[in-house]
Amino acid sequence: MIPESFIQELLGRTDIVDVIERHLPLKKAGANLVACCPFHSEKTPSFSVSPAKQFYHCFGCGAHGSAIGFIMAYSGLGFVEAVEDLAAQAGLQVPSEKANGRRQASAAAPLAGLMAEAAKYYKEQLKASPRAIDYLKARGLSGEIAARYGLGYAPDGWQGLSVAFPDYRSQGLVDCGLVIEGEGGKRYDRFRDRVMFPILDSRGNVIGFGGRVIGQGEPKYLNSPETPLFEKGRELYGLPQARPAIREGNSVIVVEGYMDVVALAQHGIGNAVATLGTAITAYQVHKLLRLADRVIFCFDGDQAGRKAAARALEACLEQVADDKTVAFLFLPPEDDPDSFVRARGAGAFLEMARRATPLTDFLMQELRAGKDLATAEGRSQLVHAAKPLLVRLQAPLLRLQLVKLLAQASGFSQPEIEALCELPVVARRKAPARSPRGAPTPLVRKLLRLIVQQPALAARLPHDLIPPGHAESQALGALAAAVAEGNLGEQDFGRVLEHFRDTGHEALISEVLAELVEAEFDEESIEAVFTDTVERLRQAAVRQEIESLNEKNKRAGLVPEEMRRLQQLLAQKQAAKPAAFD
Ligand code: UTP
Ligand code: MN
Repeated sequence: MIPESFIQELLGRTDIVDVIERHLPLKKAGANLVACCPFHSEKTPSFSVSPAKQFYHCFGCGAHGSAIGFIMAYSGLGFVEAVEDLAAQAGLQVPSEKANGRRQASAAAPLAGLMAEAAKYYKEQLKASPRAIDYLKARGLSGEIAARYGLGYAPDGWQGLSVAFPDYRSQGLVDCGLVIEGEGGKRYDRFRDRVMFPILDSRGNVIGFGGRVIGQGEPKYLNSPETPLFEKGRELYGLPQARPAIREGNSVIVVEGYMDVVALAQHGIGNAVATLGTAITAYQVHKLLRLADRVIFCFDGDQAGRKAAARALEACLEQVADDKTVAFLFLPPEDDPDSFVRARGAGAFLEMARRATPLTDFLMQELRAGKDLATAEGRSQLVHAAKPLLVRLQAPLLRLQLVKLLAQASGFSQPEIEALCELPVVARRKAPARSPRGAPTPLVRKLLRLIVQQPALAARLPHDLIPPGHAESQALGALAAAVAEGNLGEQDFGRVLEHFRDTGHEALISEVLAELVEAEFDEESIEAVFTDTVERLRQAAVRQEIESLNEKNKRAGLVPEEMRRLQQLLAQKQAAKPAAFD
């Protein structure tokens, strides 16, 4: 866990304008800066950054957040990674051991420099190797694509890297996997006479390499080992290069090979990424679904391809949501994306991608495979096999669809399947926990907005008037507490939002901040709006008490004391400005 105080300090030292400007050209527009929104496609800028509030907000698609949130959304980084990224920019050290024992930033930093240096060296060597250039050309690649993917060449020779690294004995070269130390301490380059594919992390740092033999040879590809920089299950080849195309099309294609990514890019299909010779992990799926609403896995049409697809499917079950699509594209058995796109062209490939098999269909196909549904045994096996998968599927609507498909195929009824698989019954749309009539949660929400804009007002909140039990009321309590503890930067929405990250109030606070950006209270009128809101709350409370006393009167009659109270309340209601009771 990174301490909250560090997050607040980091945000205090970070300017969201600098952070965003590193990725988008911002133009001045009054007190704010604007750009075309990177999170949806648009021609006129509705993405606005407020230096005063340290907050971004898109009036088009509603995306909004702090500097940390921007880096997470834009670069597809996790929270900790985004904080590390900003901390590095701000020259701060993140004060915590890694929650999951992952790479230590301090160990990684010098290695990153070595990897960058090596990538530069390999690139230069490519220019000097007609043989490697010819190989890439023969595979249909242009110089432009080779440059975009930073392709290089590791020359033949045992210690080629000693040219780039005068200190060839440095431990770092071994630690980052570039150099192998043999018996007796003899050192030599891991990659020799290979075309080099640098692997970048989400931030664009070189963290590993894949090296292909030129022509025939074993192994065909040699890869960097896992190092403090490089964890294969967390990275995707080609992601930084693919990001603009992924965003533009709101979809990403996942393939198996470096060459597939590069060949697709060569044919104008820029939104492809590859796993790193390993099965795709849930983490990678999660990362991709954060960047796009549609993820298409592309596999060879052979048996191995289907097996790989089945594994990918498993990695998706817990990640996919009802507003996301995961689909599986199976190429003809003799093809991979590289050979397919070269033989048939980008149009044919995109058409295949468009018609890719949706997750539920593929899942049903897999479940049916090898079962004789004409028999009772076969139909039972179908449900038996489905159970562990259904349980893991997190998207409620998708799961319901699957249950229906299973019911159809198995002859069980839908409730039977739900019971057999021990599924939580999909919540019927909860009759929204009806707030007692007149309970003024919109008023409480308004108070939330007022306090964010003017934290000092928190001291004057009439807590007894705020109806308890609503999300708004609870958030208001938490907000008031944060103000009282001095945890909120005045007017700094970014810090407010980060204060509530991963709390039950996050979604609501985030919504309220966005509302506020869209319709800010006029500074001059804040005091009046606050007073009026509190007054409305008071009146609502009065009205509510009258109602419940009236009801009791009808049911059971009132004791004298209650009678007096009712009269008092009615008098109060009379005295109030009628307009406030609308
Ligand atoms: P493929 O064998 O499908 O190669 O490996 P490919 O992408 O078609 O490559 P070309 O077209 O022959 O050049 C797919 C991925 O599996 C990993 C690599 O990550 C490769 O991109 N792989 C494959 C290895 O790590 N080592 C190997 O020897 C082979
Ligand atoms: Mn291939």
